[in-house]
Amino acid sequence: MASLQIAPARVALRPMTDDDLPMLQQWIGRPHVAEWWDADEAAWSFERFRASYLPRVMAEEKVTPYIVQLDGRPVGFAQSYVAMGSGDGWWEDITDPGVRGIDQFIGEADLLGRGLGTAMVKALVRQLFADPAVTRVQTDPDPTNARAIRCYQKAGFRAVREIVTPDGPALYMLCECA
Ligand SMILES: CC(C)(COP(=O)(O)OP(=O)(O)OC[C@H]1O[C@@H](n2cnc3c(N)ncnc32)[C@H](O)[C@@H]1OP(=O)(O)O)[C@@H](O)C(=O)NCCC(=O)NCCS
Repeated sequence: MASLQIAPARVALRPMTDDDLPMLQQWIGRPHVAEWWDADEAAWSFERFRASYLPRVMAEEKVTPYIVQLDGRPVGFAQSYVAMGSGDGWWEDITDPGVRGIDQFIGEADLLGRGLGTAMVKALVRQLFADPAVTRVQTDPDPTNARAIRCYQKAGFRAVREIVTPDGPALYMLCECA
């Protein structure tokens, strides 16, 4: 039986706080996330994980973390970043300071494939474009992650080309308006 689709009005984003970190590390360890995220992070000690994901540490790297809520319950994670000047070999050809990037996942496996991803990506893109300084939003799924690619297309992204990032091959996708 097909699962019921989730109404976008039930989905909201809030800033991530330090208190969310144990839940976030638990999500990252789940097989449906680890398959497409950095699986090593689940094995890190909590102190190491915390040192990378504390919101104030992420802010130093121009990354903003969010918790996705469904009817007020935390169910997923998203982050946005300023692409230009990311460092470590990331986005070296980007010279437009208005480009933002996004990454995300749903932590609860029973909520996959029900439209939640599309709703949360649309909400995040809308929030980013509310800033007049933002010109484009990019994302870079693994080229074999068909579910994510389809979700981003539904949320308004178009595939531009395959690229190679420091994490390996990716499909570069862009959204130019909310
Ligand atoms: C990627 C992710 C955020 C998408 O959220 P979601 O709620 O599952 O996606 P949606 O339900 O909004 O849309 C998924 C679409 O992909 C389709 N789909 C599902 N599995 C698919 C597959 N194997 N191949 C092609 N399309 C697929 C669905 O049918 C749906 O399209 P439709 O509405 O046209 O039928 C979520 O699946 C997730 O967290 N995955 C695990 C981690 C991950 O991959 N993160 C992304 C890293 S870039």
